[in-house]
Amino acid sequence: MLEIRDLTAGYGKIPVIRGINMDVLKGEIVAVLGPNGAGKSTLLNTVLNLTTIFNGTIRFNGIVLNEMKPYEIAKLGIGIVPQIDNIFPNLTVDENLALGAYLRRGDPNVASDVGEVLTLFPELAKRRRQKAKTLSGGERQMLAIARALLAKPSLLLLDEPTAGLAPRLASEVIKRIKEISKSTEITILIAEQNVKKTLEVADKAYVLVGGEITGSYTSEEFSVAKIEKMFFMGERAAY
Ligand SMILES: Nc1ncnc2c1ncn2[C@@H]1O[C@H](COP(=O)(O)OP(=O)(O)O)[C@@H](O)[C@H]1O
Ligand SMILES: [Mg+2]
Repeated sequence: MLEIRDLTAGYGKIPVIRGINMDVLKGEIVAVLGPNGAGKSTLLNTVLNLTTIFNGTIRFNGIVLNEMKPYEIAKLGIGIVPQIDNIFPNLTVDENLALGAYLRRGDPNVASDVGEVLTLFPELAKRRRQKAKTLSGGERQMLAIARALLAKPSLLLLDEPTAGLAPRLASEVIKRIKEISKSTEITILIAEQNVKKTLEVADKAYVLVGGEITGSYTSEEFSVAKIEKMFFMGERAAY
């Protein structure tokens, strides 16, 4: 579904991620695991063409994305939940959800889809008229994911959905991601530092350290300790 080949990208004239090769197959949950500063956000943002691509290609269902505008890429069916600023704090839960369905204006199924995401995230159903800034950290993350789902993406990019959450809430968010994968046809690419929790749901994982992929593993090969050690060695090498 998503095919990344020899990708080098960054900001201005400076490459941040280099020589990236990745494949995400339909229906998979694929993880990009790496320490802070590894380039995870840069990689996800590059799929939406929000950075500068220096080399390589990104294909989605065979279509080359490199020269496309972010909104055109979104229209093809790629959704993203950014790491920061992923909700509108001064708008209500309902208003945030409505904006998620913005590209589907006039689609008669939006109302029933809102009902469906609220079934998946019952904590939001109780707070529909509440401003998003009054939600807890976990609820905000749920809202950000719910909002992205309302655009009906076929590929959803999640940028560190458990960042800043207490362990119990992080587990809850990961559990919902698994539920989304099981109950919909949505393919998921998730960037995370939380190796243990992410490997509980991923089918495949790429390790990104210092802007390069230093390993890729299938679920049979997962080793939390080994991957975390790769993070540490990468960080040591960087300083
Ligand atoms: N908008 C930007 N402009 C310039 N450099 C950036 C920008 N965003 C991130 N970087 C740099 O790119 C590197 C990787 O950052 P990032 O992709 O955010 O890593 P991660 O998400 O893995 O923590 C860091 O060195 C960071 O300083
Ligand atoms: Mg990041």
